[in-house]
Amino acid sequence: MTDRFACRLNGFLAFEWGLTGTKVGCDTGECGSCVVLLNGLSVKSCPVLAVQAQGSQIVTIEGIGKKDGGLNSLQEAFGEEHAVQCGFCTSGKIMAMTDLLSHNPEPTEQEIREGLQGAVCRCTGYEHVVRAVERAEKKTRAPFISWPIAREKTSTPVV
Ligand code: FES
Ligand code: FES
Repeated sequence: MTDRFACRLNGFLAFEWGLTGTKVGCDTGECGSCVVLLNGLSVKSCPVLAVQAQGSQIVTIEGIGKKDGGLNSLQEAFGEEHAVQCGFCTSGKIMAMTDLLSHNPEPTEQEIREGLQGAVCRCTGYEHVVRAVERAEKKTRAPFISWPIAREKTSTPVV
C-alpha cells in the first residue's frame, strides 16, 4: 500500500473497502466525525493504524441500517428531530450513540450528553441530537442492537 492515508483505519475503510460514510474532519483525533465501532466499542478511526485493527470486528455507518436497506430507529430519529444540518458530523455521532444504546438501552439525558463528548458539531446544536437519541430510545425500549450485525467486516492484512 503506498497511499499514506490508507495506512490509517479511516483511509483504509474508504480507499480499500469503498466505505465512504465515515467522515474525516480534523484527522487528528479531536472532532469525532470518524467514529466507527471496533469490536463493539466506538473509537475514532483516524488515530488508529489499519494494522492495529487487523482481525477486529469493524462496523461503520454503512453497517447499522436494517437488513432491507432501510434506516434503523436511531437514524430515523435523527431525521425526525432535525438533528442533521450539513451532516458531516452525523455518521460519527450515530456510531457513538449506537455504542451507547447497545450497552445502555435507556440512557439518561446526562448519559447521552456524556456520550456525545468528543463529537463536535459546527451547525446543528446538540439539543436536537439529544432529542433524537431520546426518541430512538423510546422507540426501541429493548436492547438496541445485537452482534454480529449486517455488513461487519474483519480487516485483512495491510501490505
Ligand atoms: S477526523 Fe478523526 S477525530 Fe476528527
Ligand atoms: S451537522 Fe454540520 S457539523 Fe454537525
